[in-house]
Amino acid sequence: ASLKTGAVGFTSAISNGQSPLADIDWDNLGFGFMPTDYMYMMKCAQGEKFSDGKLQRFGNIELSPSAGILNYGQGLFEGLKAYKTEDGNILMFRPEENGERLSLGAERMCMPSPSVEQFVKAVKETVLANERWIPPPGKGSLYIRPLLMGSGSVLGLAPAPEYTFLIYVSPVGNYYKEGLSPINLIIETEMHRATPGGTGGVKTIGNYAAVLKAQSAAKAKGYSDVLYLDSIEKKYLEEVSSCNVFVVKGNVISTPAIKGTILPGITRKSIIDVAHSLGFQAEERRVTVDELLNADEVFVTGTAVVLSPVGSITYFGKRVSYGSSGVGVVTQQLYSALTRLQMGLEEDNMNWTVKL
Ligand code: COI
Repeated sequence: ASLKTGAVGFTSAISNGQSPLADIDWDNLGFGFMPTDYMYMMKCAQGEKFSDGKLQRFGNIELSPSAGILNYGQGLFEGLKAYKTEDGNILMFRPEENGERLSLGAERMCMPSPSVEQFVKAVKETVLANERWIPPPGKGSLYIRPLLMGSGSVLGLAPAPEYTFLIYVSPVGNYYKEGLSPINLIIETEMHRATPGGTGGVKTIGNYAAVLKAQSAAKAKGYSDVLYLDSIEKKYLEEVSSCNVFVVKGNVISTPAIKGTILPGITRKSIIDVAHSLGFQAEERRVTVDELLNADEVFVTGTAVVLSPVGSITYFGKRVSYGSSGVGVVTQQLYSALTRLQMGLEEDNMNWTVKL
């Protein structure tokens, strides 16, 4: 990997006298924020197109108190990862999918969006500029967080007059403190994450603020996270606060269909294809709570969580456990197939990984 064009103004972080990495405990990375050397910034006025982004030293950004993002939540984010391989390469996983999802979300949120090409180029530059922060092979990944926000001033409710696209990165390990051990979920029966016609299907920041209350209450009771149901009939699965959900019954793997209230996860989509390639039947459809409670295995997927087994679900005070302990056979098979591909341990017949 080498630093390619576009990283104008970049000088070696080490020669800049920046903090060495000696203090990082690569064996115990969780999912916490760690500032790195560089971030990427690109701005554009409403009605215009993004151009001329560049890397700059990581640091706080300046926003007017009347910025659209601060007042009316006009913002989207993305999440993707870069891995370092044993042979010294850097692999990213399907970055163009994130670029496409950002564009779709931007349309819903009345924002201009960088093109997919601009998005992927910016992500690559940001990863290369922060290369020294990518965890060693097998220790974790560099989480890449693109943000798109209304940074111009508004007072009356309207799309902001200016937009900022920003990318920062942070080295990460496991998302859940359980690591790869099964997590325990509780079904939320009062609050909903999304509703038909709303913004549940795009990665707008407000969707995540909306789940904090239920998530905090669940965590206070010792659960790992919350599983949401549809807001109309309250019997179909939607998703978990930060990830999609799958149920396994025999040879069939099912996940709620994308219908505007569910985030179209890139890991979700990839797992469906991996499942097919391994000979499973994979279905996208409405999945009931009853099916969930009677499943052989349950797991969740997301960029941050990757693929986490679910050990138990609590619904109206009743706890259902899956398997005796440990990770289910199908879950383990899918996890291995996906992560070996992402980490470059398996030949990428899917053509999903992008080498830097
Ligand atoms: C991700 O999985 O990358 C997400 O965006 C979820 C986030 C809440 C960590």
